[in-house]
Amino acid sequence: MDELSPEAWRGLLDRRAACGGVPLYGPLLAASAFVLGRLAQSLDGYIATPTGQSHWISGPQDIAHTHRLRALSDAVVVGVGTVLADDPQLTTRLVEGASPVRVVLDPSCRLTSRHRVFLGGTETLVVAATDARVCARVGAAEVLRVPREADGLDLLAVLAALAERGLRRVFVEGGGVTVTRFLAAGLLDRLHVTVAPLLMGGGVKAFPMPAVGALADARRFGWSTYRLGCDVLLDIPLREA
Ligand SMILES: NC(=O)c1ccc[n+]([C@@H]2O[C@H](COP(=O)([O-])OP(=O)(O)OC[C@H]3O[C@@H](n4cnc5c(N)ncnc54)[C@H](OP(=O)(O)O)[C@@H]3O)[C@@H](O)[C@H]2O)c1
Repeated sequence: MDELSPEAWRGLLDRRAACGGVPLYGPLLAASAFVLGRLAQSLDGYIATPTGQSHWISGPQDIAHTHRLRALSDAVVVGVGTVLADDPQLTTRLVEGASPVRVVLDPSCRLTSRHRVFLGGTETLVVAATDARVCARVGAAEVLRVPREADGLDLLAVLAALAERGLRRVFVEGGGVTVTRFLAAGLLDRLHVTVAPLLMGGGVKAFPMPAVGALADARRFGWSTYRLGCDVLLDIPLREA
C-alpha cells in the first residue's frame, strides 16, 4: 500500500470524525423545513428485484422507522414507479402521529384512481408535467403541474409548490430514480439509507446515476450509523438545516 501524505491522513481522519454520532431524530425534530431521502437496500445496492419486488428487504424495525419518518413529515413523496410496483398506502398506521400528505411524481399521468395511494382519508397530490396530457381522474387528488427540465421534472418547483401549501418537511421515500434525482439536484438535506444483510445479484438500483471516471470524482459522505435489528441505518447529513 502507498504511504499516505499528512494531508491524505488528515482527510481520512476528518472522514472518520464525520462518522461521529448525532441523535437520529434530533435534526428532524429541530427543523421547521427539511427534505429527507430514504431507501432500504441490499448489501449490493439494490432496492427491488428485477420484477419490482421490494417487500421486504429490510426488517420490521426499519419499517417502523419509515412510518416514524412519515409521522415527522408534512408530505411524503414517491415516484410513479413505486406506486405501480408496490401500491403503497404511505400512511402512519404502525406508529402514532398523523399521516403526511401523499405526493406522487407522475410526470406523464400514468396513474388511475384504483391505486391505494388515492384511498383513505389522507390527502394526495399528483405532480404532472405541464406538457403532459390531461390526467385520468385520480379520485379526489389535486394535480399540480410543474415544468420539465432536461433531466426530468423541475424539483425546485415541486418543493416550492409544496411549500406554498405549508408542506415544508418533505420525506422522499423512493424509489431509486426519485431519491437520486433529488440528490443530484442538490435538494436533499439528509439521506437515510438502510443496508440489509442480503445479496440480490441484480434488480432496481438504489442510486441509478452515471459512473464516475475516477475515484477522486466520487462523492463522499460522512454518516452516523444505527442498528435497526439486523439492519444498519446510515444517517447522512448533506447540508446544514
Ligand atoms: N427498498 C426501498 O427502499 C424502496 C423504496 C421505494 C420503492 N422501492 C422499489 O423501487 C422500485 C421503483 O423505483 P424506481 O427507481 O424504478 O422508480 P421511482 O423512483 O419510484 O419512480 C420513477 C418514476 O417517477 C417519475 N419521476 C420521479 N422523479 C422524477 C423526476 N425528478 N422527474 C421526472 N420524473 C420523475 C418518472 O416517471 P415516468 O417514467 O412516468 O417519467 C420515473 O420513471 C419499485 O420496484 C419499488 O418496489 C424500493
